[in-house]
Amino acid sequence: MPILPRRRFMQGSALALALAGAAACGKSDSGSGGEGAFEGTGPINWVQGKDNSGGKVKARIEEWNKLYPDEKVTLIELSAEADQQRADMINAAQTKSASHDVISVDLVWVAEFAAHQWIVELPAEELKNDDIIPAVWETGMYRDKLYAMPFATDAPIMYYRKDLLAQAGVEVPTTWEEVKTAVEAVRKLPGYESIGGFGGQWAKYEGLTCNISEFIHTAGGAFYDDNDKVAINSSEAIAGAQTAADGFKDGIIPKEALEWKEEDGRNAFEADKLLFYRQWPYQYANNLEALGEEKFGVAALPSIGGKAFVPTLGGHNCAITTNCKNKATALKFVKWWTSEESERYALETQTLAPILASLYKDEAMLKKFPYLTILRESLDNAKGRPSAVAYGDVTAAIQDAFHPVLQGTGTAKDAIAGLETKLNELES
Ligand code: GLC
Repeated sequence: MPILPRRRFMQGSALALALAGAAACGKSDSGSGGEGAFEGTGPINWVQGKDNSGGKVKARIEEWNKLYPDEKVTLIELSAEADQQRADMINAAQTKSASHDVISVDLVWVAEFAAHQWIVELPAEELKNDDIIPAVWETGMYRDKLYAMPFATDAPIMYYRKDLLAQAGVEVPTTWEEVKTAVEAVRKLPGYESIGGFGGQWAKYEGLTCNISEFIHTAGGAFYDDNDKVAINSSEAIAGAQTAADGFKDGIIPKEALEWKEEDGRNAFEADKLLFYRQWPYQYANNLEALGEEKFGVAALPSIGGKAFVPTLGGHNCAITTNCKNKATALKFVKWWTSEESERYALETQTLAPILASLYKDEAMLKKFPYLTILRESLDNAKGRPSAVAYGDVTAAIQDAFHPVLQGTGTAKDAIAGLETKLNELES
């Protein structure tokens, strides 16, 4: 099975440089997305995960439909959960379903979908502009060609309950130790004795891979080295996984979080059952509505053991399926969906993280969303997940290895030794 030139877990900037070098060696050939390939106009479907904003995506699509009534776009919403979305999209590709035309692919699926030719190459020159954050642009590339145009990037930030910290008289923590102290202080407030401490997405799905990677990377561990050899079995990685496991054991990370996906933790946070939450930027819009500015805030994720937090890079990209009949309309829609106007709309209405650098410096946006500076830092420090065609197997192995340890079964050391074997098997 073909795999990416494997430079795994490179920092965004290093990856951008490497790929910029590769691109400079020659213009990409036209491939399946080359000139003339984007033919056919007419109705199409836009397929994405559940819209958590209560209708803002649909409203934007209605704008398109007013502009182009003969090229109507219909929104198809899948599950809110990454793994289920992937399964639905793969099923549609394999059954050659006519219902998936333009699809929102998680950046970790790009290699797999491109290698299987479930999506077509896109005309990079028509979609690129200098304002797109280079590391974000690269998330749509497979073998130096663009297959999936980013429309929302993603990096985690720390949401905290401003009202409860104030009542307990504690500052917003910047270190893991301070997080613990803050949790203990808030638990002394009447009625908050058993409030959850620091939540994340620890259910056995893609969110777990994102969350455990952060503890491992922050501790200085890595899944693969620069020569693409499996490198997970290090004392740093063990220490990182152990810190997460201890967080559960010590009651700082709530046990319920072992079943949490994004929305479960959000609900707990909004229901006064959680003090801190590691979560993607989309939640800001929800919290504004549910809690109001006075009750919550956003900060950088805490350093752990004196080391700066290393966030996991997320993101969602537009891809055109091979089965799409109206590819001219599909491409026109992708350009519109990723335009500055659409990026602004997605930020203002759903607080999705823009792909455009200028929006993080835009005065009006900063006034409305002061957390943009913190988000941009998180993006710049973020590490990717492995860019493997067989990513599904890699992430499943990671989840299988760590979920039991976080539940208190087995040791981080043994789990990592087992994972090392498994990842090596997947290489062969
Ligand atoms: C977010 C990220 C995505 C990640 C997913 C995990 O949607 O953008 O990259 O895979 O969360 O749940």
